[in-house]
Amino acid sequence: MKSVDFLLAFVVLALVSSLASAYDPSPLQDFCVAINDIKTGIFVNGKFCKDPKLATPDDFFFKGLSIPGNTNNLVGSNVTTVNVDQIPGLNTLGISMVRIDYAPKGGQNAPHTHPRATEILFVQEGTLYVGFVTSNQNNNTLFSKILYPGDVFVFPIGLIHFQVNIGKTEAVAFAALGSQNPGVITIANTVFGSNPPINPDVLARAFQLDVKVVKDLQKKF
Ligand SMILES: *[C@@H]1O[C@H](CO)[C@@H](O)[C@H](O)[C@H]1NC(C)=O
Ligand SMILES: *[C@@H]1O[C@H](CO)[C@@H](O)[C@H](O)[C@H]1NC(C)=O
Repeated sequence: MKSVDFLLAFVVLALVSSLASAYDPSPLQDFCVAINDIKTGIFVNGKFCKDPKLATPDDFFFKGLSIPGNTNNLVGSNVTTVNVDQIPGLNTLGISMVRIDYAPKGGQNAPHTHPRATEILFVQEGTLYVGFVTSNQNNNTLFSKILYPGDVFVFPIGLIHFQVNIGKTEAVAFAALGSQNPGVITIANTVFGSNPPINPDVLARAFQLDVKVVKDLQKKF
């Protein structure tokens, strides 16, 4: 192989491997149960890891996803998360899940994004109107669907998405996410509820709104 070809192959390989490691790091051991007290920890690969000899089945266990979250709030939904904070054994494994409850007639999981994870959602009960919007490069196209029990929908990593209960009864969905700690950015809260607030003139121009409307929105969030 000519040295130029070799260099090219090397650059391509380096690019591919950097893409592959853009998500949660691959574990270099069977598991790495997260701990807060580093005195008993031995490896570091994500959070600090517990000595594997001290790991127990409970490090990989969560109880309570059968319990509905309370949807009596302004948006009418409740997300119960099961990530590395609930199951320390998820540390470095690149996966987590949630239960989402929706109040009847319009309860919604408001537009938000997960900076670190693609989400695959399964409807157990009820009827959901769901969607995500592509990035500017793809013309902010809305991909939406109405989902019934047994249906599955995917929200690609980083894209703004939402679910709304359009049925007359409660709805329940479960979702798996491709990170031990997917993160959530709720659009309305982030933009209008930041602390300290973003200058209202900036938001008025960005959203083409009257400054009074912006100030009103900032009071709400
Ligand atoms: C979600 O439900 C739990 C359990 O009922 C409750 O403690 C929590 O306050 C609820 N969260 C919201 C945002 O309503
Ligand atoms: C976005 O819109 C432009 C201009 O109308 C068009 O040329 C392009 O094909 C669109 N791209 C996608 C991904 O739809």
